[in-house]
Amino acid sequence: MGVTVLIALISYLIGSVSFSYGIARLLKGYDIRMHGSGNAGATNMLRVVGKGPAAAVFLLDMLKGMVAVGLAAWFTNSPFLVMLAGIMAIIGHNWPIFLRFRGGKGIATTIGVTATLTFLAALIAGIFAILAIVITRYVSLGSLIFAAGLPLMIFLLDYPTSYGYLSLAITVMAFVRHATNIKRLLQGKESKLGSNQRT
Ligand code: G3P
Repeated sequence: MGVTVLIALISYLIGSVSFSYGIARLLKGYDIRMHGSGNAGATNMLRVVGKGPAAAVFLLDMLKGMVAVGLAAWFTNSPFLVMLAGIMAIIGHNWPIFLRFRGGKGIATTIGVTATLTFLAALIAGIFAILAIVITRYVSLGSLIFAAGLPLMIFLLDYPTSYGYLSLAITVMAFVRHATNIKRLLQGKESKLGSNQRT
């Protein structure tokens, strides 16, 4: 019990470190959440700050997921606990304690978690997501396809059952955090990759 709480807490704190917030503050002196889509994540960094900082944020956010599951795997060999660590890192990213619980949408951190634990599933879901982004130029649509495809691929590829069930929580979180994107996609008002349109 003690180990579970410790792993969950450390992972949540790792996820709570918001690189988009920190880098935008450092480079531009403002709160990224007051600009563009208002999201503290790589897509919004690309929209309002620039390509280099967005790439850095994407990689660092991904790294948070990798570090959380890597650390957990050092404490335990339970697939359930290791995946739980990943989920806690995503929760930290989405609802960070250091930013009054207003963070990002968790996709880069989800990529870090799933590329570490379920590489093939992440790769296949990722290919479909990238195709969707290239064709439509909607990053949010790609994110949703990635999140929806993950549990499907994890169950199909026979990973530990606990990975499959916990990945459903990742999917639900991604859809909850993309609620406004889904609404804009349905209304045809979502901003496309490369447009600086504020949403
Ligand atoms: O991963 C976030 C992306 O799917 C959407 O970001 O800023 O367009 O809401 P944004």
